[in-house]
Amino acid sequence: MEIKKAEYVISNTDWRKCPTTNRPEYAFIGRSNVGKSSLINMLTQRKGLAKTSAKPGKTLLINHFNVNDEWWIVDLPGYGYARIGKSGLEKLNRLINGYILNREQLTCVMLLIDSRLEPQKIDLEFMQMLGANGIPFAILFTKLDKLSQRQWAANFKAYQKRLLEDWEELPPIFATSAEKGTGRDEVLAFIDGVNDELKVKN
Ligand code: GTP
Ligand code: MG
Repeated sequence: MEIKKAEYVISNTDWRKCPTTNRPEYAFIGRSNVGKSSLINMLTQRKGLAKTSAKPGKTLLINHFNVNDEWWIVDLPGYGYARIGKSGLEKLNRLINGYILNREQLTCVMLLIDSRLEPQKIDLEFMQMLGANGIPFAILFTKLDKLSQRQWAANFKAYQKRLLEDWEELPPIFATSAEKGTGRDEVLAFIDGVNDELKVKN
C-alpha cells in the first residue's frame, strides 16, 4: 500500500468525541514505551507525526491520524505505566477500555510487544480481555533491531508456545523495527487486505 497522505486530525479523552466517519480504525496499543508512536511514524514514513519519547507515558490521549482518506491509525496511551499513580492509571485504563470496548469503527487492535522480553502477564491478560470481548487483534513485535537473529528466534518460539497455552489459533503476527523499517510492507499489506475485505462486505 502506498501512503499518499498521513495527517494528524484530533486527540480525545473520550471515544464518543472521536471522528464520526465509518472508515476502519487500527488502534496501536501496548505497554508504555513499547514503541507505538515510533512504529506509526515508520509505517507512514512521517517522522514527527506521532510524538515519541524515551520516557514512558508520552501518549495520554486517543489520537486519530487520517491515512489516505480511507482508514485511521489510532495512537493510544500505553498501559501499565506505574509512575503516573493509581488514579492516573485508572483514568488511562478507562480511556483505553472505553475506546476499545465501545468503538464500532475499531477494526483491529495492533498489540505491540517488546521482542526482547519474555511473555508479560499484563500483555497476556490484555489479549484475554480482547478475546473475551470478541475484538480482533494482531501482534506486532517491536524493536527487532535490538536483538540478534538468534535471540529473536528463541524469543519468538517461546512466545508462540506461551500463546498456544491460551489460544487454539495464533493471531496474525509481525516482527518490526521502527529504527530499520522492518515489517513495514507486511503490516501495510495486512491492513490493506482487511480494508479490502470490509469493502466487499459493505
Ligand atoms: P508511550 O506513548 O509513552 O506509551 O510510548 P510508545 O509506546 O509510543 O513508545 P515511543 O514510540 O515513544 O518509543 C519509546 C522509546 O523506544 C523511544 O526512545 C524510541 O526511540 C524507542 N524505540 C521505539 N521503537 C524502536 C525500535 O524499533 N528500535 C529501537 N532501537 N528503539 C525504538
Ligand atoms: Mg506513544
